Amino acid sequence: SPVLKLAVIEGDGIGKEVVPQGLRALRAALEPIGVTVETTDFDLGAGRWHRTGETLTDEDMERLAEHDAILLGAVGDPEVPSGVLERGLLLKLRFGFDHYVNLRPTKLMPGVASPLKDPGDMDFLVVREGTEGPYVGNGGSMRTGTDLEVATEVSLNTAVGVERVVRYAFEQAEARRKKLTLVHKHNVLVHAGHLWRRIVEEVGAEHPDVAVDYAHVDAAMIYLATDPGRFDVIVTDNLFGDIVTDLAAAVGGGIGLAASGNLNPSGAYPSMFEPVHGSAPDIAGQNLADPTATVLSVALLLDHLGHVEPAAAVRAAVESDLAARTDSEELARRGTTQIGDALVAAISGR
Ligand code: NAD
Ligand code: IPM
Ligand code: MN
Repeated sequence: SPVLKLAVIEGDGIGKEVVPQGLRALRAALEPIGVTVETTDFDLGAGRWHRTGETLTDEDMERLAEHDAILLGAVGDPEVPSGVLERGLLLKLRFGFDHYVNLRPTKLMPGVASPLKDPGDMDFLVVREGTEGPYVGNGGSMRTGTDLEVATEVSLNTAVGVERVVRYAFEQAEARRKKLTLVHKHNVLVHAGHLWRRIVEEVGAEHPDVAVDYAHVDAAMIYLATDPGRFDVIVTDNLFGDIVTDLAAAVGGGIGLAASGNLNPSGAYPSMFEPVHGSAPDIAGQNLADPTATVLSVALLLDHLGHVEPAAAVRAAVESDLAARTDSEELARRGTTQIGDALVAAISGR
């Protein structure tokens, strides 16, 4: 029978709690079509770093590359210097496997409470660039620790890098409501901003059916909080996309529901699926984390591998579970494993 070879990186904090629930959902969704999931666990994160000083070795990368996809929980730990795992592990994966599309959908599902008074129809897709911007590590500091210290993080934007993600975003817009909004800050970041603007204009000319809009990132945050229904596809750079998608998660029902896919659309490298949230040390180890974001990331994984029906079954299970929560105090109070149980039962049709 067909086998899905999955690399599993639970990582740190609540990553260790939510990933097992995502895996159960994945297996339940593939069972009816006879696909088995063969997992390889990768011991990466704070524990490994404390024991060995390693974050992610070339050998780890080679072994990871042999898989069809990667499922990741979260990385980051209060006992590890900030940036060591975030850069040395997570960003190394995104850059090394050329995950130039970071796909982050927001859909306010029926019955889910938004903190917005009047959320309207909220269903948009953020296409965040994943391999460039201020994340590349193109910076440094001089005279560190003195009054004359200078620190830089120079944003890298290449025509090739911008064009490929913009093309992907237009293709998504074609398949959705045919609206694309570039979010940037070209009134201040004139060099990168004008590159993005020009490329959106050029690629847009090949998509006459797609309405193109632009918002400076600051104003975009006003619209996200007051009129999120105006957005369909948002395309933006790596750092803006990080910030935009945490607000998107919050207005879309909470960070516990926000899924993402780090895609290498060429298929040269495995794509990686993970919740938008982090390791949440404030609630880790207490069965408090909502595994729904990870389960919805599994739906993105299934879509990416062409398993459209299992993906739909996962989303249907999540939708009914979310709707049920609004009607029941008891259901709203469930923990990580209980939500996992309910989702697996719903996916399996029990
Ligand atoms: P965070 O996303 O971990 O937590 C922010 C808030 O959201 C916390 O109050 C947390 O309790 C809550 N939260 C997060 N996930 C939740 C869930 N599934 N259910 C319920 N509540 C949830 O962000 P942070 O606190 O800024 O970062 C903590 C650590 O995680 C840091 O080390 C950071 O670098 C790292 N981080 C990693 C990733 C990743 O691996 N992709 C993403 C973001 C942050
Ligand atoms: C995310 C995270 C990461 C990012 C960090 C941990 C590197 O915040 O996945 O949103 O900034 O991309
Ligand atoms: Mn983030």
